[in-house]
Amino acid sequence: MPDPDSLQSLIRLKRDGGVLSSEQIAQFVTGITDGRVSDAQLASFAMATFLNGMSQDECFFLTRSMARSGERLDWSQIAPGKPVLDKHSTGGVGDNASLILAPLIAAVGCVVPMISGRGLGHTGGTLDKLEAIPGYNTEPSRAALNQAIREAGCAIIGQSQSLVPADRRFYAVRDVTSTVESIPLITASILSKKLAAGLNALVLDVKVGSGAFTASRADARALASCLLNTSAETGLSCRVLLTDMNQPMARAAGNALEVRNAINFLTGDCRETRQSKLVEGLATQMLIAGGLVGDAETARNCIQKALSSGKAAECFERMVSVLGGSSNLLDRSNAVLGATPYVRPVYAQRAGWVKSIDARAIGECVVDLGGGRRALGDKIDPLVGLTDLCERGQRIDMQRPLCLVHARSDAEAERAARQFAQAINICEDEPVIRDEVIMEILGEDELCPVR
Ligand code: URA
Repeated sequence: MPDPDSLQSLIRLKRDGGVLSSEQIAQFVTGITDGRVSDAQLASFAMATFLNGMSQDECFFLTRSMARSGERLDWSQIAPGKPVLDKHSTGGVGDNASLILAPLIAAVGCVVPMISGRGLGHTGGTLDKLEAIPGYNTEPSRAALNQAIREAGCAIIGQSQSLVPADRRFYAVRDVTSTVESIPLITASILSKKLAAGLNALVLDVKVGSGAFTASRADARALASCLLNTSAETGLSCRVLLTDMNQPMARAAGNALEVRNAINFLTGDCRETRQSKLVEGLATQMLIAGGLVGDAETARNCIQKALSSGKAAECFERMVSVLGGSSNLLDRSNAVLGATPYVRPVYAQRAGWVKSIDARAIGECVVDLGGGRRALGDKIDPLVGLTDLCERGQRIDMQRPLCLVHARSDAEAERAARQFAQAINICEDEPVIRDEVIMEILGEDELCPVR
């Protein structure tokens, strides 16, 4: 049992730049899980870690202790012989790739038990998006989880009292204390969930740019190194893709709006180019990492088949249905998901080209509309957000909107429109956009020393 004095002394040690032992970290994580660590102590520990960092050993101990804070899933009886794979993003804006990838990889014949998170700071969270589907239960019983894996091949669920409960609490506190952008805390948060999920292989999408927690390529590489080092120490096979987050990934940002966008991708109604490149890049690495295919070309063929046959879309619909949502979401997505009373177009003040987009400001705009949290326990409005987002390098005039704002009131739509317009930088001459969607792929051979 952790005693309050020693909890305080280990927070002090971290505050003063000391290094915590494996036992001290395990004790603190036990306290997070059983409630002995208060929200104030957790926030203080998060800030001390944010400011002073952690050694690679401390990060590994934190990851391992958090993974052990609940049960570890085992799929050998439910899906014998199938590769158990997953993907996780470090967080972005309009990044709904998980909603597409889980059913897509399941449709190829793998198992995807995806333990996801909620929105953090200005970024959207996969669980918040799925909860925009009425009835969808992100904390299903073990029986429902097993049924989803058996019938759909995938289940996107959240941390719970039994699954990585330490991350559940820590995550919520970090979200509202400006302590998200810490390399060891992001690493432990992501990898603890993935270890508990009982995976064979993991592909990580480390976002780089204005809408990411790592804005610079150097910071993103440092995060990638920490993720690769720590996963290697835990024995989990892992690859990392550095991908562009200098603009929202999909042309929609907001919970229900991103679900609808993902459904359009899965059904083939609309596959945006940047989104297609990201999905294909991540899915290819997942299939190779899981040993299902030997090369990228075979992977791409499997992916195209799973999409064009409609199997990936069916897996999504089946997962939603087993986990409590509509049983025919694909045909009824507009009716099921609903809409806000106000949809307002935002126009540019002058014609030109979109030179740059402040993706973080776009994320903040969605949070201000009510699509994210500002305080612990805030309720999210699933319907608000932005669609038809303009892209970098796009030609614009005063007739075609830069985006559509979906809001609860005219005043909120008006405020969001002003915020949005400020996040878009328009220039007179056509800009040269060099950013690739997939910037770099790093494997276990690329292990680097951590700062
Ligand atoms: N995703 C997570 O699960 N945790 C983080 O800290 C950031 C992104």
